[in-house]
Amino acid sequence: MFSSRLDPDLTPGRFQRALDELRAADTPLIDLTSGNPPACGLGPEAGVLAQALTAPAVAEYHPEPRGLLSTRQAVAAYYADRALPTLPEQIFLSASTSQAYAELIKLFADPGSEILVPQPSYPLFDMLVTLEGCRPVPFPSMRVADGRWRLDEAALEGAFSARTRAVILVSPNNPTGIYLAPAEQAAAQRLCAEHGCALILDEVFFDYPAEGFAYPRTVDEGAGLCVRLSGLSKVIGAPQLKLGWMRLSGEQARVHAACERLEFIADTYLSASTPAQLAAEALLPRRSPIQARIRERLHVNQHVAEQSFGRGSAARLLPREGGWYLVLRLPEDEDDEDLACRLLIDDHVVVQPGFFFGFPEGELVVLSLITPADEFAEGVRRVARRITARADAGDGGLQPPGIARDRQSA
Ligand SMILES: Cc1ncc(COP(=O)(O)O)c(C=O)c1O
Repeated sequence: MFSSRLDPDLTPGRFQRALDELRAADTPLIDLTSGNPPACGLGPEAGVLAQALTAPAVAEYHPEPRGLLSTRQAVAAYYADRALPTLPEQIFLSASTSQAYAELIKLFADPGSEILVPQPSYPLFDMLVTLEGCRPVPFPSMRVADGRWRLDEAALEGAFSARTRAVILVSPNNPTGIYLAPAEQAAAQRLCAEHGCALILDEVFFDYPAEGFAYPRTVDEGAGLCVRLSGLSKVIGAPQLKLGWMRLSGEQARVHAACERLEFIADTYLSASTPAQLAAEALLPRRSPIQARIRERLHVNQHVAEQSFGRGSAARLLPREGGWYLVLRLPEDEDDEDLACRLLIDDHVVVQPGFFFGFPEGELVVLSLITPADEFAEGVRRVARRITARADAGDGGLQPPGIARDRQSA
């Protein structure tokens, strides 16, 4: 009866089941995984949001496939502020960045086509691609060089096949927090153009460089077709508004052909709501203080983590250039899933094991830096304490009773 796009077994893995049980029992947990700004006291304040939704035009409906011109002008101005001159005609609005992916995969791919997805990266890419009837093909987007993750051009080139239709890259990547350098973007775009594929460049975290890090100059590469993605969930910390956008650039003829077809798809769904578009128009020009509060939270929590996992610590933070996440490398004989389960059950701290994101190694966990500062400090203290205790006892990586490895079903 059901589509094969869905996994026939949707039962949650052990980690998720343990989490569900603790939550059902109202156990107080310190959540170091949230990417939800309102739940972390961030994003536009209620009054500001309410005000943004009072424009008389919320009562009207103008079904524009690309989205309201006035909102697209506000998005174009956002890119102009990033030194990327943009015309409203280059912008398409959608109900979220995730929805934009669905529309783009329909634009570029047929059922059975392959989409190259970076690994490690945002875990939902597999589902976003599979639900469109396509096959996600992971490529190791970054390799460790001087402790940093970088684009592995050879691996990317080797991942193309005759069925590849698009490549996804994320800058800064979630969760490795590394920006794509201009030369890397140029190389990816050249490879895409050579293979007749589109480059989908996800920049949802672009506005959040780490303290003291100057993010790379962004450029519009001429070759092929590049679609930049972003949206309100990160740009103003308001995922509840459900508004994302696509910005198309590249060779004029390809951009024109893509826009024509994307307009057809967008017209079928008309997914962006009028109130969300009007709120975007009001709030994008006022994003500065909202982003400043988010950045302040990221900086404060990064400092706390650096103190907890500094010199002498058994675990080590990976370098981060931006974004909302921090990757912690565990001692060599540790195991991410095992530690995450112990932290959850014994310490009531929720962390994401690295395998959720497709890290090849099993010794990484991911922490969200937008966590409220006092919770973050306490959570990190418990994580550090648990890692030290396990390292001292030499039991890192041992299976505690009742916790089998459950990587496939997590
Ligand atoms: C890299 C990346 N892209 C896209 C999204 C989804 O964004 P949206 O809320 O606009 O669908 C997320 C959400 O965390 C993300 O991390």
